[in-house]
Amino acid sequence: MSAPKYHLTSYGCQMNKLDSELVESRLRQRGYVAATSEADADVVLLNTCSVRQHAEDRVWSKLGTLRVRKRGQPGLVVGVLGCMAQEHQRYLLSRMPHVDLVVGPSAFGDIDQKVDAARAQNARIAAEREPARTKHEVAGAGVVAVGDGVSGDRIVRDVRVRPHRSQAYVSVMRGCNMPCTYCIVPTTRGDEVSRPLADLVEEAQRLCDDGVTEITLLGQTVNAYGRDLKGEHATLARLLRALHEIPALRRLAFITSHPNFLNQELIDTLAELPKLARYLHLPAQSGSNVVLKAMRRGYTVERYLARLEQLREKAPDIELHSDFIVGYPGETAAEFERTVDLVQQVGFAQSYVFKYSPRPGTLAAELADDVPEAEKERRNAVLLAAQEAITARQLGALVGQTLEVLGEGESKVDGRLSGRTVHHRLVHFDSRDAGVVGQYVPVRITAALGHSLVGERLADDAAEAGAHDRVEVQPS
Ligand code: 5AD
Ligand code: SF4
Repeated sequence: MSAPKYHLTSYGCQMNKLDSELVESRLRQRGYVAATSEADADVVLLNTCSVRQHAEDRVWSKLGTLRVRKRGQPGLVVGVLGCMAQEHQRYLLSRMPHVDLVVGPSAFGDIDQKVDAARAQNARIAAEREPARTKHEVAGAGVVAVGDGVSGDRIVRDVRVRPHRSQAYVSVMRGCNMPCTYCIVPTTRGDEVSRPLADLVEEAQRLCDDGVTEITLLGQTVNAYGRDLKGEHATLARLLRALHEIPALRRLAFITSHPNFLNQELIDTLAELPKLARYLHLPAQSGSNVVLKAMRRGYTVERYLARLEQLREKAPDIELHSDFIVGYPGETAAEFERTVDLVQQVGFAQSYVFKYSPRPGTLAAELADDVPEAEKERRNAVLLAAQEAITARQLGALVGQTLEVLGEGESKVDGRLSGRTVHHRLVHFDSRDAGVVGQYVPVRITAALGHSLVGERLADDAAEAGAHDRVEVQPS
């Protein structure tokens, strides 16, 4: 019998992508192979996101399609993994009989066994030729693990399974303890749990032994890392310093930071360690104190700016990335304008802008979602335009410079390769040599596009000269 084939689609954040890598690694170890397409798969898994309604809608619609497909293929295993499994377990189990697996984000460690069990169960049902029965009518059917399952973090990672040879994500903590009123993450991912520092160093070392040179640490509030680890004195700054010692590591980044935990220790570390990427994802969410207070973000605009001042004093080359929510309940047009002011004042390198989306079960969902959709749309467009103008100025200023780029793969711009600078700027560059994937190469920037740069790879003998170029871009 040929090996069973799986197809896994990941929605949402980087954390989900990393979880998906772990799921794939478990399945492959158990003999499953990746299907060339979803239509060709025996097992279809959706690793889902609940952060906004739009992300959920995509999954509901996909589940509708799979319901139809399963009528003709009763042995097909359909699995809903991740945040929606956590959030909608009851609905999925009671109303979606074609869903065989419902597995929350903290229960991925033995996913291979869960998939096996679901396959065996479907094979039984198919053999009985009773596809109309729901899992509740079948004793022991339905594989559900939303909460206390085997967390992926407790399983030793197979570092060989990863999409990029030279780049890897490492999850340093799960969950979130912050009280942001709009956010579903603390519900779906639970309380903050940091992994022991020594385990992280060991995992990073094994990744680097296997060819990784760039690591990005992941956590919902990554700079709060360690505060739940009693007696270990583990902080993000200490973790960064420990990882920095790994000789083969060349770049080290971390996402996402919370403004309240950007302390002097971390700022000093950012200033001192040469391998640290020169960007910081520090979501402000709003530029209005009224809205920040309503969101329970725990800081004012003035405090956010004061922290940035401290950061720029020590590490002026760090570029800032932010997230913003527009149309939060009660946000007036004047309050929204304060957000535009903040974007302009800080000169972020990049901003993700989201229209407020009520998430059932959050505190904000109790409030009237009173900013009309058309007005949310308008604010979204205004803020994006403000950000794009800043990005265009910053990218334009890089034309003519030589930047060190880590080659990542084929570019969307035809016939080129793409990669990123130490500031996380995307560069499409000409090179006949696909061997530069995974290499750090000097690229002379020739043009700026809306969100990225275009350049030419310089000759190899320029490589050493370019290798340590650090171009300082002062946000305008
Ligand atoms: N509506 C809109 N955007 C949201 N985010 C989180 N929750 C919501 C919501 N209910 C945004 C925040 C967060 C990013 C990951 O998603 O900006 O930083
Ligand atoms: Fe959500 Fe706030 Fe936690 Fe970020 S810090 S994951 S926005 S609750």
